[in-house]
Amino acid sequence: MNKRKILVTSALPYANGDIHLGHLMEAIQTDIWVRLQKLQGHDCIWVCADDAHGTAIMLSAQTQGITPEELIDRINRQHQQDFSDFLIGFDNFYTTHSEENRIFSESMYQAMESNGHIHRRSIKQLFDPDKNLFLADRYIIGTCPKCHAEEQYGDNCEACGSTYSPSELISPRSAISGAVPIEKESEHFFFDLPAFKGMLKAWTRSGTLQDQVANKLNEWLEQELQQWDISRDAPYFGFEIPDAPGKYFYVWVDAPIGYMASFKNFCDREGLDFDSYWLPDSDAELYHFIGKDIINFHTLFWPAVLTSSGYRTPTAVFAHGFLTVDGTKMSKSRGTFVNARTYLDHLNPEYLRYYLAAKLSSGIDDLDLNLEDFALRVNADLVGKVVNIASRCAGFIHKGFDGMLAENLDNPELLAGIQSIKAEVTEHYDNREYGKAIRLIMAQADKANQYINDKEPWVLAKTDKQSVELQAICSTGINAFRLLLCYLKPVLPGLTKKAEAFLNIDPLLWRDADSLLTNHRINKFQALITRVEPDKIATMIDASKAHNETAIATAAENHFEPEIAFEDFAKIDLRIARIVEAAHVEGANKLLRLKLDLGLDSKGQPIFKQIFSGIKSAYDPADLSGKLTVVVANLQARKMKFGVSEGMILAAGPGGKDIWLLEPDSGASPGLRVT
Ligand code: 2FM
Ligand code: ZN
Repeated sequence: MNKRKILVTSALPYANGDIHLGHLMEAIQTDIWVRLQKLQGHDCIWVCADDAHGTAIMLSAQTQGITPEELIDRINRQHQQDFSDFLIGFDNFYTTHSEENRIFSESMYQAMESNGHIHRRSIKQLFDPDKNLFLADRYIIGTCPKCHAEEQYGDNCEACGSTYSPSELISPRSAISGAVPIEKESEHFFFDLPAFKGMLKAWTRSGTLQDQVANKLNEWLEQELQQWDISRDAPYFGFEIPDAPGKYFYVWVDAPIGYMASFKNFCDREGLDFDSYWLPDSDAELYHFIGKDIINFHTLFWPAVLTSSGYRTPTAVFAHGFLTVDGTKMSKSRGTFVNARTYLDHLNPEYLRYYLAAKLSSGIDDLDLNLEDFALRVNADLVGKVVNIASRCAGFIHKGFDGMLAENLDNPELLAGIQSIKAEVTEHYDNREYGKAIRLIMAQADKANQYINDKEPWVLAKTDKQSVELQAICSTGINAFRLLLCYLKPVLPGLTKKAEAFLNIDPLLWRDADSLLTNHRINKFQALITRVEPDKIATMIDASKAHNETAIATAAENHFEPEIAFEDFAKIDLRIARIVEAAHVEGANKLLRLKLDLGLDSKGQPIFKQIFSGIKSAYDPADLSGKLTVVVANLQARKMKFGVSEGMILAAGPGGKDIWLLEPDSGASPGLRVT
């Protein structure tokens, strides 16, 4: 066999969100392909990483009150755990916020610059004067200039579908601070994409792109290519551009370079030669698995950047469509936006692996996860067909033959039939036509089940549980099972592992489909997979809905106000106060009326304040009197619907029954200033 040298990547998930079913579809598609290559004995390495840079991650860390590094570390651990629990076998899962990536990004940029492919020019952009940062289009909201729909993003209107530039928005404001943006000029760095038109045209014609992708690329290449803006101004979480203080690489520059960096990290650990994969004379194949939404980054910018900086281009880019659930886009409110962890809390990962494999093709059409069909299909195929073959035969081999498979099989033609599909199955997998491969395999599983039905070993066992014929039939069944499992191993590595233990064999390799198992002792049959229980799917969807609702509520509350100076903080006069009276307020759902004792003023007169506070859900007024709390004593009095409130009490907690005031016996006296 000609041993291929292959490097595979899949798209890097952003480091500010959970892995969800959409990510998993791509990971599973890639995993199946990589496992196939490895089982065939090819030298195939798969690297991935978290995509850790950019404004969104910087802001998300800010809202959570942590550093971006803390955020991306935490997310990286979660991502790795999620993927590994779905049996996703990356050779390396890294992060783009790494030294390796910094070094590559800098050196590739320097090469591009010395090759004359970097231009600088000033551009005008909207700027948030409160937050002091330039606003990407999606951080600007306002009224659509065409249809006047409110709350639309800076680049397109979800109501009427028109596209425009953010400066055309009516009453624009920053989605981050709410401030009215101003126009501001700054110098940006541009990559000379138009210089690569010829190279890109030739690359498209190399025949390795999917038709739909090549068509898309041709469309772009027929138009005039634009210079690509690769810099972002501080504050930005990313790598600073060499010799350009305050300028950072746009996240989409160092994200694909992250493929190289993750691979470099792997090479250093494993003692592999990086250059033999990435230099122009490489003898390795390089494939990127991606979603159809990021085709432009991988088929325009990326090959051009690689060429400009002296590296090879990808052998092919494999794009896939989106995952829909029950026919529509995954939806948080419907609970169909399911996170990896939520799925794992309720269902076996191999159900999803199988279902997606059965429906995946090489095109970029969307794939629908129909939840009813999911249960039916997995139960019918895996439980009802594949595992059923083994469970119908294994018992007789144990009872009558002490676990030994026969020397001579009953129906070699049936097994030869299963073996004969190997080349076709391999080709379908290799072409990412997994659905076609699964159909072929399941047709053979049907034949094997039909054979067992016809032979009725249970009838034979009644008269003679040690008959040669019974052993030969059941051994044929077990062999059919083994061959089918061998073909399914890329899709179902966990199930196969259990089956290998049952069959008492070494881990199956692709070539093992050429041989049979005779005169061999197998182990006792153990349950290999249980049926999908439809109520677990329903529970998962409910859990998803609840999870997403909580996440939305927390995100809304997690908004931090702009930083204040210490002098501003010192203006707040915080005092200990004793609650002397607490009462319900007629007509108010949340409020209690409190009368507070704040000690004595400078003339020795007692100070009392009336404050309305939204703590009714947590406290019975009868329990409150005598308790101490902290009060903002110098807050301007506000006239509310129910009366004047002369300050604010401080309390913390998630709400409902859990809102905490100060405990009664802290020993502090009213009027004491809190510092
Ligand atoms: O679209 C995304 O989710 C990006 N984080 C994918 C990056 S893939 C690569 F180019 F790095
Ligand atoms: Zn509109």
